[in-house]
Amino acid sequence: MAGPASNRHPAPAMAKPIYVLNGPNLNLLGSREPEVYGHETLDDLRQRCEQKAKTLGYSVEFRQSNHEGELVAWIQEARNDASGLIVNAGAFTHTSIAMLDALLACPVPIVEVHLSNIFTREEFRHRSYISKAAKGVICGFGGLGYELAIEALAAAISPGDAG
Ligand code: DQA
Repeated sequence: MAGPASNRHPAPAMAKPIYVLNGPNLNLLGSREPEVYGHETLDDLRQRCEQKAKTLGYSVEFRQSNHEGELVAWIQEARNDASGLIVNAGAFTHTSIAMLDALLACPVPIVEVHLSNIFTREEFRHRSYISKAAKGVICGFGGLGYELAIEALAAAISPGDAG
């Protein structure tokens, strides 16, 4: 029987951090359309990620930018410096071939996250350019989705330990 989540996917010794990259307007969480995105702030999400990752033996590098080029540079950085990558690209999800190309060049496992269920919203949100580079997509679970993404990433990084 599988043990508790804390020892199901132990991190390799000296594991590199999990990068969690957030795109435009996510700095406004808490006050931005709370009926869609909830009341949690970006800092609340950072704390959720750090706590969840810690139980699995990982640290987290949690960042947000409103600038596409900065996000691309961080994805490039993650090629060498991350164990895995969680991306909520915000509206760039639906527009950015540059982010897709950077993600395709990134050899670590990638999980795409959205707070809202993009498939129940406007049609222009139904298309994600970046999903092609992701191992999986989690959307519609609010902040919990970030924790689920960390769990999924840990399993992808250490598949032999999947329980
Ligand atoms: C989002 C969904 C996107 O369509 C939107 O542009 C965002 C946030 C989400 O987390 O639900 O900024 O990525």
